[in-house]
Amino acid sequence: MKEKLEQILKDAQCEIEKCDDVKTLDEVRVKFLGKQGELTSILRNMKEVPPEERKTVGMLANGVREKLEDAISKKSEKLEEETLLKAMEKEKIDITMPSKGVKRGALHPLTRFNNKFMDICVEMGFTVIQGPEIDTDYYNFEALNVPKNHPARDMQDSLYITDNILLRTQTSNMQVHAMEELKPPFKIVCPGRVYRNDDDSSHSPIFNQFEALVVDENVGLKDLMKMIDVILKKLFGENVKMRVRPAYFPFTEPSIEIDATCQMCQGKGCSLCKGTGFSEVFGAGVVNPKVLEMSGIDSKKYSGFAFGPGIDRSVMVTNKIPNIKYLFRNDMRFLKQMR
Ligand code: PHE
Repeated sequence: MKEKLEQILKDAQCEIEKCDDVKTLDEVRVKFLGKQGELTSILRNMKEVPPEERKTVGMLANGVREKLEDAISKKSEKLEEETLLKAMEKEKIDITMPSKGVKRGALHPLTRFNNKFMDICVEMGFTVIQGPEIDTDYYNFEALNVPKNHPARDMQDSLYITDNILLRTQTSNMQVHAMEELKPPFKIVCPGRVYRNDDDSSHSPIFNQFEALVVDENVGLKDLMKMIDVILKKLFGENVKMRVRPAYFPFTEPSIEIDATCQMCQGKGCSLCKGTGFSEVFGAGVVNPKVLEMSGIDSKKYSGFAFGPGIDRSVMVTNKIPNIKYLFRNDMRFLKQMR
């Protein structure tokens, strides 16, 4: 029995020594010290040992167990340390390597232009409001003095959802919402997306406009022109020139179209401005008294003016973007160049 115990001790020590990972070490522990283990079965069968030898064999067997437990725990510590060292070696960070750099985000060019325009308007005392992109025919057309079958509807190829509901073709729907909800005097500006059945390199079915509306006593064309002059200078610089042409919108009377120095060629004349040095920036006008009345504003006491720039064209021109679609595709290769 004594020899057998010594043999177990030797075998186990040898196997423990050979282990090179925690898993095999555990297998060795189970083999010798587990419930069905070699040493355990000897200890369990002590009653077969003659009584006079039991004490010595028992002491010996317990001694072997202690030695093995000790050897296993030392080996386990050693293996854990080795694994840690290996991991540290593998995951070592070489601080002398150049860094990957931090990727910087930036605002979309439309957002930047939008923010700039809003800041200018807020500085001038306008309140920024927002409203529905899906609206009824009444707000988009009828209350703006464009009754059903009016030829002016042709200017805006509309996208209808039902006979009465459409994707707004202009932010001018917000003129009506504002006049219904606010008490004059007020100055509102509304940035937003608008939709038309238009699609080529300079037209997109989705584009962006602002609507600015001032309703007060004794305001008119001269106030509108002065305000636009100030805005254009803040937007494009002090040297920008403005040109006014007569136009027609059913909701303004008189109606005008504002041109500004072409931002592509700075007024020298290019293919975009067809050699004129000017490009169209917005439609504007004095609010038609009929429109004020339809929304419940006394047109004998109050008057108003409005302007509605499309911003995509300005962003295209100032950033020399050849196709309007680039503004909506969210292609990182394009956006990175726009920083
Ligand atoms: N809503 C008009 C358009 O989309 C522009 C406009 C706005 C004209 C305000 C006059 C006053 O063409």
